[in-house]
Amino acid sequence: MMKLWGGRFTKQTNRLVEEYTASIPFDQKLFEEDIRGSLAHVRMLGECGIIRPGEAKKISEGLKTIREKIRAGKVEFSVSHEDIHMNIEKLLIEEIGPTGGKLHTGRSRNDQVALDMHLYVRARTLDLVKALTALQEVLVEKAEEHVDTILPGYTHLQRAQPVRLAHHLLAYVDMFGRDAERLKDSYKRVNTMPLGAGAIAGTTFPIRRERVAEELGFDRLYDNSMDAVSDRDYLVEFLSAASLIMVHLSRLSEELILWSSEEFGYVELDDAFCTGSSMMPQKKNPDVPELIRGKTGRVMGHWVSLMTTLKALPLTYNKDMQEDKEGVFDSVETLKGALALTAPMVAGMKVNGEKMRRNAEEGFSNATDLADYLVTKGLPFREAHEVVGRLVLTCLHEGKSLTDLTLEEYREACPLVEEDVYEKLKVENVADARNAGSGTARSRVLEVLKKKKIELDETRNWLNTVRY
Ligand code: ARG
Repeated sequence: MMKLWGGRFTKQTNRLVEEYTASIPFDQKLFEEDIRGSLAHVRMLGECGIIRPGEAKKISEGLKTIREKIRAGKVEFSVSHEDIHMNIEKLLIEEIGPTGGKLHTGRSRNDQVALDMHLYVRARTLDLVKALTALQEVLVEKAEEHVDTILPGYTHLQRAQPVRLAHHLLAYVDMFGRDAERLKDSYKRVNTMPLGAGAIAGTTFPIRRERVAEELGFDRLYDNSMDAVSDRDYLVEFLSAASLIMVHLSRLSEELILWSSEEFGYVELDDAFCTGSSMMPQKKNPDVPELIRGKTGRVMGHWVSLMTTLKALPLTYNKDMQEDKEGVFDSVETLKGALALTAPMVAGMKVNGEKMRRNAEEGFSNATDLADYLVTKGLPFREAHEVVGRLVLTCLHEGKSLTDLTLEEYREACPLVEEDVYEKLKVENVADARNAGSGTARSRVLEVLKKKKIELDETRNWLNTVRY
């Protein structure tokens, strides 16, 4: 097959080389972006008089026809034309004749592929922000239902202090909120247009790239053509943000896996989100959160892989850069699935508030409060710590919790204890005593819930102002 760049060559390309170097098997995913970019480019070429208006029109129409054919699955791409850019150009020439050959005036595949990836990642960045917002919404709703559900908070996976389930869930709302912020920030850089850089040094044609940028919704232009064609930072940022989202989803998944085990018994995942065992009839496995946890590594791997690809590349474009695509595409798919499943899984899980509460009461998670109580009665903290430690030991021997001890038993350990100790040690009161700053007190949790709803509205408004 005749190559678009065949002029300088005297031999056919080796078939294995064609297969090895082609990106069409995966970059055909970019056909919408590629044609959108070409339509804006050709319109500008016509407006600037670089090609005739009639030619621009003919090329535009040809591109639209090809787009319809690709959408309808009627096009067979060929590795002989290497990538989506040359496949489409070849199709265009077949469709409208030699005029199609004018499309690539003042442009190189180097700035073209960068443009396509900027358009692709810009849209996926916004998709991700949207999906994160939807998940946050579900978590906020669940938190609202469980302001008064108390469970042990854990450090070292040992029961530490009682917290409201709402407080626990709101921690994830903030993690995903930071993820959305990171994407909103990287959006500025992804929304910078590389077209006009040509192969490396710019173009000799009197192009007006501001026109193209305006039409495609880019806020900024690259200042340096060499940077424009070799910058992949925006992809690194995207993969880094994506990795951290997966890490957050994986941590949440891990908690759902633990919590849905018989040992914890805190939640029951909906049947529609679990699978059974082929041998053990009693099993209901949390496959979905396990797979999310399992898939986290591959997204992190894509980040490492791209960083490694870039780390020793001289300016500007090098073929190595073609390796940037599959990891990004795979990360997009992986995240899409994980986010789309986590939201309904959290929404549909049944919470066993009684079990949570029992564990909070039994686990000495109010021991710090007993020590603090003794301090308010006049005992130095160090001594109070010692007294409570000994009481915990007694309880452990006798299979009791601190609230099971009689007033006499308390007085024996420390005469300062009075009847009001029982009120102090109720898990709600223990939680509500933490009403300063970011604590788990009911009043604080309600305030934070309100604040999160405002933040979610702000993100939704932002999504309405940006270009896709
Ligand atoms: N398929 C190539 C890629 O994905 C497009 C850019 C090719 N440019 C070049 N000078 N070979 O990176």
